[in-house]
This record gives sequence, C-alpha cells and structure tokens, in this order.
Amino acid sequence: MAVTRVSSAVFGAGVGAPYHRGMATDTSAASSPAPTEDAVRAALATVDDPEIHRPITDLGMVKSVEIGDDGSVAVTVYLTVSGCPMRETITENVTRAVRGVAGVTDVTVSLDVMSDEQRRELAATLRGGQAEREIPFARPGSLTRVYAIASGKGGVGKSSVTVNLAAAMAADGLKVGVVDADIYGHSVPRMLGADGRPTQVENMIMPPSANGVKVISIGMFTPGNAPVVWRGPMLHRALQQFLADVYWGDLDVLLLDLPPGTGDIAISVAQLVPNAEILVVTTPQQAAAEVAERAGSIAVQTHQKIVGVVENMSGLPCPHCDEMVDVFGTGGGQRVADGLSRTTGTTVPVLGSIPIDVRLREGGDEGRPVVLTDPDSPAGSAIRSVAGKLGGRQRGLAGMSLGITPRNKF
Ligand SMILES: Nc1ncnc2c1ncn2[C@@H]1O[C@H](COP(=O)(O)OP(=O)(O)OP(=O)(O)O)[C@@H](O)[C@H]1O
Ligand SMILES: [Mg+2]
Repeated sequence: MAVTRVSSAVFGAGVGAPYHRGMATDTSAASSPAPTEDAVRAALATVDDPEIHRPITDLGMVKSVEIGDDGSVAVTVYLTVSGCPMRETITENVTRAVRGVAGVTDVTVSLDVMSDEQRRELAATLRGGQAEREIPFARPGSLTRVYAIASGKGGVGKSSVTVNLAAAMAADGLKVGVVDADIYGHSVPRMLGADGRPTQVENMIMPPSANGVKVISIGMFTPGNAPVVWRGPMLHRALQQFLADVYWGDLDVLLLDLPPGTGDIAISVAQLVPNAEILVVTTPQQAAAEVAERAGSIAVQTHQKIVGVVENMSGLPCPHCDEMVDVFGTGGGQRVADGLSRTTGTTVPVLGSIPIDVRLREGGDEGRPVVLTDPDSPAGSAIRSVAGKLGGRQRGLAGMSLGITPRNKF
C-alpha cells in the first residue's frame, strides 16, 4: 500500500503524488493454454496489502490485468501515493501469486498511483461505510472488548502489564490493538518493540505493529524525545484521533494504557468509549492500594465496569532461597478489589498477581515482552493467565454501558 509518512502530530492529510512506476518480470516456464483472467484475478485476491492486511482486489488496487496469447501476464497495481515503502513487497507478492497460475509464462508488474478520488473511495471502504471520525469501538454492537489499564500511582506497572497482556493475547491468536493513551509519559512502543512509524492514507492512519499487536502512540509523531506540552482539550483530541482515525481493522481486544491517576484522559476515555472496562493495576503496598481504589472508583461516576484488579510487583522470589521477599508488602490487590466491590456493588476480582522479575523489566527495555521470551517464568505465566481470563471472555456486549443510572448512588 502506498502511503504517506505521517510527519507531524496526528494531523494533516496526505498526499499529492508524483507518478511512480516499478517493474518486475518473471519467466518461469509453463505450458499452454494461456491462463484466464478469472484465474489471474483469483490469484491476485490472495495478495494482501502489507499494511492494511486485506486483499488488494478488495481495496481497488488492481488497475488492469492483460494476458497475452503466449501466457504472459501484465498486471498494473495502484499505489495510493508514490514513494510507497511497500512497493517492492507488493510487486514481489503479486509476481509470486500470478506466477503460480497454470499457463503463466511471464509476469510483469507495473505500478501506478491512485487519484484523489480513488484514495477517498479506499478510505471509505476501510471505514466500512461508517461516518468519518466515528469511533468504531463505541458503536452499539461493537464486538471489540476494550480494556483501559488504570492505576492511582505512577510506576506500578500499567504499561508493562498492558504490553505483556497484548502480546500474550496476540500469541493466542487474538487480533489486538494498543493505544498508548499516556500522552505525556508514552512508553508503549519501546516496550512492545514497535519502532515503525505510522503511515497515512487520506485521513486514515495505519498503525505499525510489533509482536502481532497494532499500536499507536503520540511518541510516533513527535521528533526524538520531545515532550508533549498540551492541555486537556488537546489530549482529548489526540485520544479521539487514535480511536477514530487509526485503521484498526476488526479487533478482538483493544487495550488503552492510561496515565496514572484520575485525570483528563481517564475522563476522555469514559466519554469516547463508554463501554471500556477498567483494569486496575496496583502494587501490594497499602498506600498504593488506597490510591488505586480511588482511581477505580471513578468508574462509578462514569458508569464504567471494572473488570478486575491486577497486583503487580507482588514479592520478589529470593535468588538464594525459596522464600518470597515482600518488597512492597502484601494484600494490596485484594484490598483494592474488596474496596471496589463495595463501592460498585459488584464483585471485582483479583485477576492475578505478578511477582517482581528482572526479565520483565529487561523485556520492557528491549521491546521483547517477557510473555514471549520467557512465557513460563513466574511473571510471564502470571500475565498469561490474566490474558487468558480477559481474552477468553465472550466476544460481545459484556461491559457495555446501558446508560442507566442506579437509583441509589453510593
Ligand atoms: N513485575 C515487575 N518486575 C520487575 N520490574 C517491573 C515489574 N513491573 C514493572 N516493572 C518495571 O517498573 C518500571 C515501571 O513500570 P511501568 O512503566 O510499566 O509502570 P507504569 O505504571 O506504566 O508507569 P507510569 O505511571 O509512569 O506510566 C519499569 O521500569 C518496569 O520495567
Ligand atoms: Mg506507563
């Protein structure tokens, strides 16, 4: 897919593209009769756009197919803009697919560039008829489970938990996306090993993916390590763009890594994706648990469901003995779950306890989630167990806000 590199903040449209042309030929021997156009198009339907992950035939990217009497096939493929970083891949994949059709003696792939009108049509196809700027996950009937990972205090492991849950679910075959909703303190791309830049088709942003997880973060739009200095409305707008303008495709699960506390972003999430369920992360420490409970309680005001609590840094397995060293005390996860159960009047479970593990920290620094590099380590298996509980829940309307207010407020 031809795309424009997104150059600055999430904003601004593509394109305006000079003509680009590429060529590839193949001369595998094959016997007559000459292939039919239907057979060639069927082969082209097996070629996915490398970024959108849908067949190029569905995306209006096949401009023409010409078949000579000698079995030679000339295919012209539309890129959305010139300078497409994927043009080599597309050319190779088309060549390979067409070469496999019986009777094909030679394959020539030429590349052309879509017109503005064709790009608009493609963007409309990707949106699936949905109005521009609508958030697909907030639509009634959306089957994507959305989990917002929240905490009271900073540094308790929200991002580590988010990234590892995402990687574990993707490894289980789910289609997973992560929004790094921590605009000031973005850290997800590094932890997930996502060093690609987003690309843009019209006003749709194609998220990079890593370890099978699609991810978007403000850090992908800022030069170097430049800080983001925005007030609430801009944060809201960025989050809205991440949700509405990014082409997520059909996700099973979307995880939102929130900043710590009960600030603007938590409120924006509640407004933009009211059916997002809150996953509270805390350490075992009393003080952290109290703040986590406060952060979770915001769900009562926003009518969001709390899916459960994850206790992180639950002890350090002693490297010299079999003992567990309770570096941050004990019981915080259960205390938060009990407190939130009382506040919400529902049962809020502790979904798991993740021990302190150097491999988890190293994996975060290196962009290689511990659930993949060391899935059976204590931390890896604890997170995989939580992922199983969240990912294994029925795809559907669970957690969907009914928009009703309890008569008795707490
Ligand atoms: N179970 C763990 N074992 C070892 N190190 C951990 C564990 N959980 C998190 N860490 C480390 O603790 C630090 C903070 O974790 P992380 O960034 O995930 O927390 P956070 O809640 O997202 O922080 P912030 O509030 O700043 O966004 C990181 O260096 C991370 O690697
Ligand atoms: Mg974080």
